[in-house]
Amino acid sequence: ENLQDFIEGMPKCELHVHVEGTLEPEMKFELAKRNNIELPYANIEALKNAYDFDDLPSFLAIYYEGMNVLLTEQDFFDLTYAYLVKAHSQNVLYTEMFFDPQAHTARGVGFDTVIRGIRRAQIAAETSLGIRSQLIMCFLRDWSAEFAMTTLLQSLPYKEWIIGVGLDSDERNNPPMKFNKVFQRAREEGYLLTVHCDVNQQGSIQHIWQAVNDIGADRLDHGVNAIEDKALCEEIKKRSLALTMCPISNAYVVGGTKADVLDQMLDLGMRVTVNSDDPAYFPGYMNENLIRLQEEVNLGKDKLVQLTRNAFEGAWLPRATKDRYL
Ligand code: HPA
Ligand code: ZN
Repeated sequence: ENLQDFIEGMPKCELHVHVEGTLEPEMKFELAKRNNIELPYANIEALKNAYDFDDLPSFLAIYYEGMNVLLTEQDFFDLTYAYLVKAHSQNVLYTEMFFDPQAHTARGVGFDTVIRGIRRAQIAAETSLGIRSQLIMCFLRDWSAEFAMTTLLQSLPYKEWIIGVGLDSDERNNPPMKFNKVFQRAREEGYLLTVHCDVNQQGSIQHIWQAVNDIGADRLDHGVNAIEDKALCEEIKKRSLALTMCPISNAYVVGGTKADVLDQMLDLGMRVTVNSDDPAYFPGYMNENLIRLQEEVNLGKDKLVQLTRNAFEGAWLPRATKDRYL
């Protein structure tokens, strides 16, 4: 059965999208022009052809290079607003967006420039379109714990604008425990916690255990490899942790969507969700990810609805607000 119309019409919730990963080539050219930056590509086609990645590090190199066009508060506004318009057009009612402040402060863009632009877009989109959103600040795990702590302290004046903190970038040799102190301080400050547990990393299982037991994460991003450890799946289920999976991202980074694992976890009653990750780079927003998954493992309407329920249940919203969506 073709459930494309059903998927498109379904109210949706996104829990794993990097706002910098929504920078479409067209906007990249626009911002480059506005900021007088010379891109090393003649046109959009050439830029897209340079999107050549087959693992996490090769993706990240292109992802960080792309951000160089983001300089002013207006740039961050435009980036965020365009994503929220797109999400709203796909019937996404609520989204939790990651942002990577260190990728900007490290090249001289102010923390306040970044967050003020994003925040203004969130308010504008909610007012004009009705789409709600919250922000999650990610630490870059391939930088030091000290830099992460500095960034955490920088964020404190904006605490009311940030619901939680996460951990992203290159996982290799950068286990969650490297940031234990930062995460504990973040919790003391009232932030919720999530951790990227990317697919097929060296030490994946151990990293997921650390995120759950040592960090005390409230959510896991990706977390596909938990399927290899029955006790770990039990623990994740016991704690009702949402797992934010990203099928099209997986297809690029590890060569397969891992749709079978997602389906298996649904059968185990785990709180798995479907998300877009970096939709400008792994082409596909929420609908495309759900359609791809449905095609691969032939999910029926019941499971598609369950995925959406899981996302709203896993959302970092007050109970009463979730209930209005459910
Ligand atoms: N994994 C790690 N770091 C990232 C990702 C991801 O999927 N997207 C953007 N930064
Ligand atoms: Zn991600």
